[in-house]
Amino acid sequence: MNKNIITVTSPLLPNLEEFTKILQEVWDSKWITNNGSYHKQLEQALAEYLKVPFVSLFTNGTLPLITGLQALRITGEVITTPYSFVATTHSLWWNGIKPVFIDIDWETGCINPDKIEAAITPKTTAIMPVHVYGKPCNINAIQNIADKYGLKVIYDAAHAFGVEVNGESILNAGDLSTLSFHATKVFNTVEGGAMIIHDEKTKQRIDYLKNFGFAGETEVIAPGINSKMDEIRSAYGLLNLRQVDAAIEARHQVAISYRKALRDVEGIEFWDDIPGVRHNYSYFPIFVDAKKYGKTRDELYFKMREQGVWGRRYFYPLISEFSTYRGLPSAAKENLPVAHKMADSVICLPMHHALSTEDIERIISIIVKQ
Ligand SMILES: Cc1ncc(COP(=O)(O)O)c(C=O)c1O
Repeated sequence: MNKNIITVTSPLLPNLEEFTKILQEVWDSKWITNNGSYHKQLEQALAEYLKVPFVSLFTNGTLPLITGLQALRITGEVITTPYSFVATTHSLWWNGIKPVFIDIDWETGCINPDKIEAAITPKTTAIMPVHVYGKPCNINAIQNIADKYGLKVIYDAAHAFGVEVNGESILNAGDLSTLSFHATKVFNTVEGGAMIIHDEKTKQRIDYLKNFGFAGETEVIAPGINSKMDEIRSAYGLLNLRQVDAAIEARHQVAISYRKALRDVEGIEFWDDIPGVRHNYSYFPIFVDAKKYGKTRDELYFKMREQGVWGRRYFYPLISEFSTYRGLPSAAKENLPVAHKMADSVICLPMHHALSTEDIERIISIIVKQ
């Protein structure tokens, strides 16, 4: 990688010496996967850190979505957002479920609860919102509607590691939440993910489902899948958990610098922190108003790229624009005006724990200069 390039993210890596030491222990134990000691330790440590009852580790953040839908026996139609990473909608498709897209809220990027009721049909069984960029959805409004219509709520919380509202983890909302521990995330295990579960019985069922459905040596209770996290990545995760608070604080400082420098730039919009919310600063999206800024989002995006600053148009295009989903009635552009506006104006600026003051100044100067 060219040293002059500033990438949108950079992985939080454990200290290599400590990792080597822990690897020696894994080697000595000769137990490298299948619910070993580090897997159990990381589940416990994460449950404590995240302030949630149960965590089940997975090999990535897509499989807990797919498995969670199976565990809750979701069928028919599920109301969801087009403004997310494709894995959200793919998890429905893999379960033979029809995604029904509704529009999002400009203030949060998450689904607009006011749009849910109109999308409910006799086939609707659940809602799958996304805490996009780690910004909390309106969980109370969503739960009220779910309760009224007897729907399940599965949160794709891939971005919401450690996010709390008034001291309570956002991951406790709904029936299940899922996390991604991909290398690009605030907390990573290289590849990895987790499901957040509220009761012991469901935790047991999920643990069976992620291990082919095995419930003991000779019994298979359901057509499960293999999505267990191994010991090496669990050990890596335990080391990374020790430094994640410092990484979140470093990201917070980057957000403060961006906001200070961009506050008065005409045509550049961004979000401020929400009082009472513990944010994780996983992303820093800006929204370009071409008329006021004098350049389109794409002009700015490519100008940044030319100068070695790799932002990301995240999320663009909308999931509803991909050929797989474009034909769905709910994918029609008129149904999703706010989502289209956001997808057409967003650039996620570089955001990670290791950005230097010079990096930040370089990024800002390109945006301010245009
Ligand atoms: C919103 C969202 N959901 C799901 C996923 C899938 O996670 P993974 O890449 O760990 O499978 C991602 C990954 O980027 C994501 O951003």
